[in-house]
Amino acid sequence: MKKDTILVLGSGGQIGTELITALRNSYGTSQVIASDIKPNTNDTGPYEIINVLDKARIAEVIDKYKVTQVYLLAAMLSATGEKFPEKAWELNMNSLFYLLDMAREKRFDKLYWPSSIAVFGPTTPRIETPQHTITEPTTIYGISKLAGERLCEWYFLKHGVDVRSIRYPGLISYTAPPGGGTTDYAVDIFHQAIKNGFYTSFLSAGTRLPMMYMPDAIRATMEIMDAPAENIKIRSSYNLSAFSFTPAELAHEIRQYIPDFQVFYKPDFRQQIADSWPQSIDDTEARKDWGWKPQYTLPAMVKDMLDNLKKQLK
Ligand code: SER
Repeated sequence: MKKDTILVLGSGGQIGTELITALRNSYGTSQVIASDIKPNTNDTGPYEIINVLDKARIAEVIDKYKVTQVYLLAAMLSATGEKFPEKAWELNMNSLFYLLDMAREKRFDKLYWPSSIAVFGPTTPRIETPQHTITEPTTIYGISKLAGERLCEWYFLKHGVDVRSIRYPGLISYTAPPGGGTTDYAVDIFHQAIKNGFYTSFLSAGTRLPMMYMPDAIRATMEIMDAPAENIKIRSSYNLSAFSFTPAELAHEIRQYIPDFQVFYKPDFRQQIADSWPQSIDDTEARKDWGWKPQYTLPAMVKDMLDNLKKQLK
């Protein structure tokens, strides 16, 4: 077992649910403290209720357990953020500020904070989007992630804070549902395909977006946190890529297993968000600096999702 005591803020979300399990497998259950804004009676290890806007409460839990690493996963995603811009800004920015400050004060050693393909915008080159390129996001979520990236780099350069970050593509998983994102269709479509045999997509048939299966995303997260500090050359956030597809292409793959599956298209306000994001991502730097390599292809992901969801829904 590895040493370190880890606090995961936002452990009840789509990423947190699976990251907690993976971290507890590597570090031991008692070494990984799960936390979210609501009580969780299903959690099998240490659990604390924390609102990430309550700085004193975060500090109290860090000190209580002598935490050495923090993963800050609580955030408001792109679609919900457009509806509640002030709340999104407050939640996404203040929580990061608090944690970066506590890391600067050496209350703990290492911070993980997720960024997103949402830092890119309509003026960004959309195919094989490079690490260093135009970032003019047009969503509040994207603006908060871009500002967050700049903050992370500033805290590293000025104060030596060991903060690490990945620009996740859309994440697909069967354990916990995503909430309020533009890429959420790529999860919901599986549930509806199994339950009803049809799905109405809020993105158009040809909307291509970069995506990743959760086991790859969890592995990437743990790998970047495990890498020697000197290998982490980018202290804003790393591009990360696995595969890209459109709703029509995903439906085609699902039809290999559910031949009568039908999809209808009814784009809503999220179409404009998706249209402002890249279609594919160049992740050369992550591969070079800390050895990133995705394992799941689109067909492998679809098979695994359907196998697991069918078991779950039975
Ligand atoms: N998947 C997120 C969203 O759609 C992007 O980070 O908002």
